[in-house]
Amino acid sequence: MAIARAEGYREGLVDLAAGRISREIFVNDEIYRQELERVFARSWLFVGHESQIPSPGDFFVSSMGEESVILCRDRAHQIHVFLNSCRHRGMKVCRYDEGSTPVFTCPYHGWSYSTDGKLVGVPYFREAYRSKLERSQWGLVEVAQLYNYKGTVWATWDPAAPSFLEYLGDFVIFLDLILDGRDGREGQAEVLGGVEKWLIPCNWKFPAENFSGDSYHNISHRSVDLAGIGPSGSGRRDTAELMIGRKLHVCIPDRGHQTIVYVLPKDLPPPPTYQHSSVVSEYFRHCEEERRRTRGDQARLMGAPGEIFPTAALLPRQPRTLAVWHPRGPHQTEVWRWFFVDRDTPAEVKNFLREYYIRYSGPAGMTEQDDMENWNYAHAASRGTIARRHPYCYEMGLGCAVEDYKWEGLRIPGRVIDITQAQSSEEPMRNLYRRWAQFMEADSWAELASWRRADTAAAALRPTGT
Ligand code: FES
Ligand SMILES: [Fe+2]
Repeated sequence: MAIARAEGYREGLVDLAAGRISREIFVNDEIYRQELERVFARSWLFVGHESQIPSPGDFFVSSMGEESVILCRDRAHQIHVFLNSCRHRGMKVCRYDEGSTPVFTCPYHGWSYSTDGKLVGVPYFREAYRSKLERSQWGLVEVAQLYNYKGTVWATWDPAAPSFLEYLGDFVIFLDLILDGRDGREGQAEVLGGVEKWLIPCNWKFPAENFSGDSYHNISHRSVDLAGIGPSGSGRRDTAELMIGRKLHVCIPDRGHQTIVYVLPKDLPPPPTYQHSSVVSEYFRHCEEERRRTRGDQARLMGAPGEIFPTAALLPRQPRTLAVWHPRGPHQTEVWRWFFVDRDTPAEVKNFLREYYIRYSGPAGMTEQDDMENWNYAHAASRGTIARRHPYCYEMGLGCAVEDYKWEGLRIPGRVIDITQAQSSEEPMRNLYRRWAQFMEADSWAELASWRRADTAAAALRPTGT
């Protein structure tokens, strides 16, 4: 038997036609090193929310890939994202999680930076540097592009990446499901409480594919479903939607974003929710009525777990949260979870939601602890010399996705599998790994932005009338 050589990424590890993906992409150290460069240094990543830095001088220390970054608001109210590393010898210039400051002063030799990133203080500038250091050359390293979308701050290190909205493509309506108000007003979300952070011993792709739309793993939540911690009466948190609507897997091809979504019937009101509190239930009933009135058919979409490539995971309804799977080496992930509410939600409702969110999510939450048992053990059991020779199976629903899906007059963008009966498919995971493999193989954004070539080709075919 030939002995395989250890090596990094190569074509064929992600074989979507056969529905097979090698375990190497989860456990191989060299592939991990390559993906930091090819995926994380080129894609748009979620950094934080503007409500975390309301005033000039406010900062929140976040992460892009493995690297620490500072999200801050300068004296002119502009938002910035800087690499949290001093230009002199690389010391972290900010060692707090969040706060407010007029300058970031490096603890090592004392260089200091203003909140717009300029190097403003150099100890012994006249004596030691003979006043010759060109300070304008040594400001903090800033991201190449930043975009504030309805309060959420996204950034990329790659100046050649498309704009954030082009990067999102048709997925934007699913991001809106978490950021717009429950009553249909645009961009009402704010962060509730702090950011939940914890480490899990698995590759970041385990939670990323789970939140892409793994509705096959419901058996893992059987005990909690029986205990009935859903906020809408007994059973799961989404039983009511499932009873009356369609459950879909929606994938945006060429972008790598995907989600589960429910579509409610045209002529039925949305199902009641948060029935354990009459005040909260009444609040959401009123919001949903408003949303139907202002958004029409679009309000029939009910958000469910989804993933913006590569690491931002959405859970737009119950609980309403956004998570990021920060890679911390090939065998460890740091999860950060932000919780959202509409900013003018009554205090009593916010308090009820805060308790529900904590009860549901995170390492001590009723559901995520069972998810983590799966990811952690699956990763460990896939690392062995023998184990990694055997690919995972991604055959479910292969070839079943359709374009131009419509139900009761509402058209859904992207490629769709209706899983109301089937319960699940692995189309979202195939969409995620197709995009991941494209990032690993493509040398430029000219290759990665394949939709631009399709647009150009379509324009060339269009008749030029007189
Ligand atoms: S490392 Fe920051 S001043 Fe030297
Ligand atoms: Fe789960």
